[in-house]
Amino acid sequence: SPARITVDPTFVVGEVDPRLYGSFVEHLGRCVYTGIYEPEHPTADEHGFRADVAELVTELGVPILRYPGGNFVSGYRWEDGVGLRESRPTRLDLAWRSIETNAVGTDEFCTWTRRVGSEPMLAVNLGTRGADAAAGLVEYCNHPGGTYWSDLRRKNGVSDPHAVKVWCLGNEMDGRWQVGHKSADEYGRLASQTAQAMRLVDPGIELVACGSSGPRMPTFPEWDATVLEHCYEHVDYISLHSYYQERKGDRASFLACAVDMDRHIEAVVATADYVRAKGRHTKRINLSFDEWNVWYSQGTTVERAWEQAPRLLEDQYNVVDAVVVGNMLISLLRHADRVRIACLAQLVNAIGAVRTEPGGPAWRQTIFHPFALTSRYGRGVVLQTTIMSPHYETDWFGEVPVLDAVVLRADDGVTVFAVNRHQHESLPLTVDLRAVPGLRRASHTYIGGEDPAAANTGAEPGRVVPLTGEGLAVDAGELAVALPPMSWNMIRIS
Ligand code: AHR
Repeated sequence: SPARITVDPTFVVGEVDPRLYGSFVEHLGRCVYTGIYEPEHPTADEHGFRADVAELVTELGVPILRYPGGNFVSGYRWEDGVGLRESRPTRLDLAWRSIETNAVGTDEFCTWTRRVGSEPMLAVNLGTRGADAAAGLVEYCNHPGGTYWSDLRRKNGVSDPHAVKVWCLGNEMDGRWQVGHKSADEYGRLASQTAQAMRLVDPGIELVACGSSGPRMPTFPEWDATVLEHCYEHVDYISLHSYYQERKGDRASFLACAVDMDRHIEAVVATADYVRAKGRHTKRINLSFDEWNVWYSQGTTVERAWEQAPRLLEDQYNVVDAVVVGNMLISLLRHADRVRIACLAQLVNAIGAVRTEPGGPAWRQTIFHPFALTSRYGRGVVLQTTIMSPHYETDWFGEVPVLDAVVLRADDGVTVFAVNRHQHESLPLTVDLRAVPGLRRASHTYIGGEDPAAANTGAEPGRVVPLTGEGLAVDAGELAVALPPMSWNMIRIS
């Protein structure tokens, strides 16, 4: 069948929650140290944070930032990271076999986050700690004053509360690699008790329970159901994590991994709704897809000396990865009614959208571009859209559509995000806009190009950038456009 999208503003999936465009800062490798923070860097501000990185983070458009882990949080004592720097202990970080100086902690991170126009989303340690430490951290961050922890924050120079709204109850607690990993019953009970204690400190917070750490975990989705049975009434979201990579040169499957993301999301929605029905609950649990990306490098904890800020997981992304990341954003948007928060993992250096060199440049990886454009223009409401497409066969997912797309409506017009998964042929697409009268002009921006392996580097930071397609016009309510081979596309119609 030919590729055709029929737009009708009557049928709405849901309004986009800007927190869908979140990212993630973990004490991992060089994400924090020599990533966002490097007091010796020529661009460092008076707080030691790199201004060049802050500028890119603002451009990326990340309204929420998860912190401080990740696996790191499961051995973290948050108290180590507050107060006078010279008194902060240096510790072994068991998750990433690294030396942690604690030079950056909760106060520095939350304050920096606000400076870059974002809000913090903090995780508490449910690996080696529990309700007491978590409730103490909420009190430290959110209580105005007059108590031990809130007065400590004030003494540490932060007079106004950080007002942290969203909190993660631990991280990937089903994973054997997690310090203090637990069974679903153990974790579910702990999450429930911790959630209740945290909410007693601040009833206005929102809480995310750990779902399975991936759809291929043997306990998925049983883990998610059991955990929610323990804590349904005390949490607001269940988390999803997923990473993809091109395996054994099977690019055709890799290009379609958003199909897997769709299935993952739909399975977790079904699981949460099953627990809702079973427990006779009325509220719905929404989804926080708080780790997602393309991830190649593996193996981090073995046979390495203990080092401070080691180079870990510093994947260099290419054009194909950017197309896939753009497609994953389409998948998240398509489920905007239930996925309310999502975090690209991660922000800087470690599987990061931004890369840096110590003392040197900061640059945009290829995946930065579809993310920044979707965050900027993927606002308004997501429409239920009919998409017709030719199909192709993949080893991982069976038959999949060549075209994947999502359509949004905002006050200034209609935006189509679309991926052509065909590796060699461009895809002629018709967008039927007859149900939205008055649209005339359109612009076409895309990521693609001759060399799928092209990447950005410190020496050549502008090798892969968004390209501009031909000017397009709406003719008799229809728009015709050719999507280049293996490309991510944004078409803005007004
Ligand atoms: O994002 C990198 C790591 O991936 C996180 O620390 C962990 O939660 C996941 O396994």
